[in-house]
Amino acid sequence: MMEISLLKGRLEEQKADMLVVNMFEGAKGFGGAAKAVDEAFDGLIVKIAKEESFSGERGSALLVRPHEGSVRRILLVGLGKQDAFNEEAVRVAAAVTVEKARALKLKRVVSVLHGAGNGGLSPKRAMQALVEGARLAEYGFDKYKSKKNGTIDSLVVVVRQARTVQQAEAGQELGERFAQAAIYARDLVNEPAAHMHPADLVARAQEIAKASRGKIRVRVFDRVALEKMGAGGVLAVAQGSDAEPYLVHMTYRGAPGKKSVAIVGKAITFDSGGLSLKPADSMMTMKCDMAGAAAVLGAFSQIAALKPKTVVHGIFAAAENMPSGKAIRPGDVARAMNGKTIEILNTDAEGRVTLADSLTYAVRQKPDAIVDLATLTGACMVALGEEVSGLMSNAPKLAQDLLMAAARAGEKFWELPLEKNYKPLLKSEVADLKNIAGKYGGALTAGLFLEEFVGETPWAHLDIAGPSFAERPMNAYTKHGGTGFGARTLLEWLRSM
Ligand code: BES
Ligand code: ZN
Ligand code: ZN
Repeated sequence: MMEISLLKGRLEEQKADMLVVNMFEGAKGFGGAAKAVDEAFDGLIVKIAKEESFSGERGSALLVRPHEGSVRRILLVGLGKQDAFNEEAVRVAAAVTVEKARALKLKRVVSVLHGAGNGGLSPKRAMQALVEGARLAEYGFDKYKSKKNGTIDSLVVVVRQARTVQQAEAGQELGERFAQAAIYARDLVNEPAAHMHPADLVARAQEIAKASRGKIRVRVFDRVALEKMGAGGVLAVAQGSDAEPYLVHMTYRGAPGKKSVAIVGKAITFDSGGLSLKPADSMMTMKCDMAGAAAVLGAFSQIAALKPKTVVHGIFAAAENMPSGKAIRPGDVARAMNGKTIEILNTDAEGRVTLADSLTYAVRQKPDAIVDLATLTGACMVALGEEVSGLMSNAPKLAQDLLMAAARAGEKFWELPLEKNYKPLLKSEVADLKNIAGKYGGALTAGLFLEEFVGETPWAHLDIAGPSFAERPMNAYTKHGGTGFGARTLLEWLRSM
């Protein structure tokens, strides 16, 4: 892992394999540190940027190689248009830097703090974003590769004033924590399902609780306990698998007397579809079907250190969805923990059946709000594509708060309606509900199904089927596999309360 550090000094005086400066798109010249570096190199950067028609577009970069002096490389990164500048531009600039430095096998890279000058970000916000972008770009899942990914030794961020160092240090700490939350979730998602059974998710929850030294408690309900509780949803889904199901309840206690929230994750460790078997191509990425729980665990892995003021319940019902002689059959009826019966007509619509129980359990904790994250529907991907998550909510204020937190985290959400007129589509001939609802609006009808289990509690449902797993690069710091989507939005949201 590269070391990221802050230093008070002048960029143009640093020893480095590469100096990193920035430019806004369409800017006439440079300001701040970039200007000083350019002057120190007799206007070389401006000259080359002009010659190469460097646009300064977000994500662009130009390597300048001075022939004289001790610095061999200067990387000019584009921040995009100044009026569209935000934290995300900083994450991207940092990611581009790491990518370039890695490709060149460099050891020591020295960068400006993007966005703290003309960008108008506070040094704290700028540094948080820079660290997030750099760390997440550094990430690669190489556990099963003989040849490991290399990384750079150190990324030094230089600022001019001691006071700025101090302000940025707080952001550095936050950036590390936020990145680690996402990386924790990425690792869980990327791990092949053979080593990520429900019991493995239980073990992670217990590890996190242990490391928190009493700040986080965890309760685990096994099959026998689930039977006693009447958790017929998760039991029905788990029935075809040799892997034992569990319901996990983690609790973090913030300031007493404050609000409490529940974050609930879908935790299907592998979704084969069950007897309603998926086609081979659709199954290839289905180790990602516990990404909701991974986001919850990722957030919990940092919660004790970040100390939000709320009480936070982390809840997931973990199961594997497999076909077998014992598997639940289309047409079978399951009874969820709140007593509602569900006719299971398609065993591949299993997420909502397990969430029926975990949401019921969440409601019983009497939280002020529930947020669930679930890789719930292919239909949501049809609607919003691979990068945008759906958001459905019975509570406009909660939805707004989450959208704002997501914007700060650079994660994309779009609100979809809980359209009442579609409720009748969930009516069953033999049970209270059926688990599928016809051809159209699949993300919405899945949301409406979940709504049956939250009662009056303010609740938001995040359908993260698209962005939780990147089959192709999603952005500069999210290349392939588990993305950790949701973990940073959750932390931004919890910290804002
Ligand atoms: N886990 C899938 C949804 C999914 C699809 C997640 C692609 C990530 C990528 C879910 O359990 C599922 O199979 N949903 C079905 C529901 C249908 C049978 C009503 C779907 O979306 O096709
Ligand atoms: Zn499924
Ligand atoms: Zn699923």
